[in-house]
Amino acid sequence: MDTTNTAAQHARTTTGARMTPAQYAHIVGWGMAVPETVMTNDDISAIVETSDEWIQARTGIRERRIASASESTATLGLKAAQRALEVADVLPAELDLIICATSTPEHIFPSAASLIQSWLGANNAGAFDLSAACSGFVYGVHMAAQAIRSGSTRTVLVLGAETMSRVMDWNDRSTCILFGDGAGAVVLKASDVEGGVLSAVLRSDGTGGDLLGIPSVGSHDIDGVTEISNGHKFGKMHMNGGEVFKFATRVIADSLTQAAQQAGIALADVKLIVPHQANARILHSAARSLKISESLFMTNIDRYGNTSAASIPIALCEAIQQGRIQANDYIAFVGFGGGLTWASMVVQWGSPEVTPGSPSFINRQRRQLSYRLAAWRRALLRASRSIGSSFIRLRPTQGRMDRLKHKAERYPFD
Ligand code: COA
Repeated sequence: MDTTNTAAQHARTTTGARMTPAQYAHIVGWGMAVPETVMTNDDISAIVETSDEWIQARTGIRERRIASASESTATLGLKAAQRALEVADVLPAELDLIICATSTPEHIFPSAASLIQSWLGANNAGAFDLSAACSGFVYGVHMAAQAIRSGSTRTVLVLGAETMSRVMDWNDRSTCILFGDGAGAVVLKASDVEGGVLSAVLRSDGTGGDLLGIPSVGSHDIDGVTEISNGHKFGKMHMNGGEVFKFATRVIADSLTQAAQQAGIALADVKLIVPHQANARILHSAARSLKISESLFMTNIDRYGNTSAASIPIALCEAIQQGRIQANDYIAFVGFGGGLTWASMVVQWGSPEVTPGSPSFINRQRRQLSYRLAAWRRALLRASRSIGSSFIRLRPTQGRMDRLKHKAERYPFD
């Protein structure tokens, strides 16, 4: 018996509506946000010993964006999310799930996804951060598509959002030249129209965990190597560039080929590959080993550097802007990075039936209202909690001690 289908037939969305499982998960909205501050290679050469010529020749990067003091992973993610909802013409209350792929959340918890959920007023959505470094966005889109196909959700927001500048060791010229800040987001929706996410190949090789990392809370021995005493710095990225370079060129070719096979198409049928933007030379080598034209790869690394989980959705937004993706095209995503992790995916871009038109005036007003209500709700809840705790503090201490004693007697094992 196919229990998956039976279960799915009885599924309800998070809003409680009974629903039939959708066969297809389509990307129907997209948006990006990058900080205004531009840091050029010349700016970096004022900090560490390097040059514009060296960085451009070895990486293809000319400049990157750096978050201001008032910007964070979640604030950039919020802007990208609002733009994606606008394109999809989806209301925050329609979201069932928010997944934020990031390695640079403000907190271990609350997640950046939860912050974004509350700022949007997406009160019917679950939210969590996904940690798969630069592969995170592809992992997230796969999770979203699977949740949609299971019948438990209909509308999912997936983000890649990062403030890499906050985890850079600005004395380490082999890493700080590479990374930048930004966010991208997509909205996926259930549909009966054939296409959308067709395949996904997710992989990990934790034996390469020491090649690329950010020591964080609880970081100590990994396979006998003490993270902090081996020269790595708490909260700062370390990387073995040469080894990561070799790993990346190898996995791009293998996993793209597998994702195409799984989708039942030839790689030659793919119109555009939107890869993680790590190094222009990595893409050059990957194109050579796949025997495809380098122009099949969408690149914008020259302007943003490596924005980790945000790089694929940002490149996707720019590819759409440039008219490089048309209805029914097969496109592929490929991500790779810390973990080590890597992931490829083939998507058949929405046909006109699933591609949104221009957002309705009413829905635009309703989204703005949702954002304002969310801010008031947050302020009200915080105020009422702080008034509540002030009252507790004002209650006589003796009375509180008596109540605690009484409770301890009643529930001795609490
Ligand atoms: N400016 C000038 N010189 C630099 C430099 C910099 N920013 N960084 C390193 N160098 C020097 C090195 O010290 C070395 O000097 P030496 O020969 O005197 O020892 C020389 O340049 C070559 O270093 P090497 O590390 O071999 O350079 P490379 O060609 O491998 O380029 C990276 C270094 C980091 C650009 C490259 O390895 C890379 O991009 N790796 C992949 C990183 C990546 O994509 N990470 C994210 C994955 S998600």
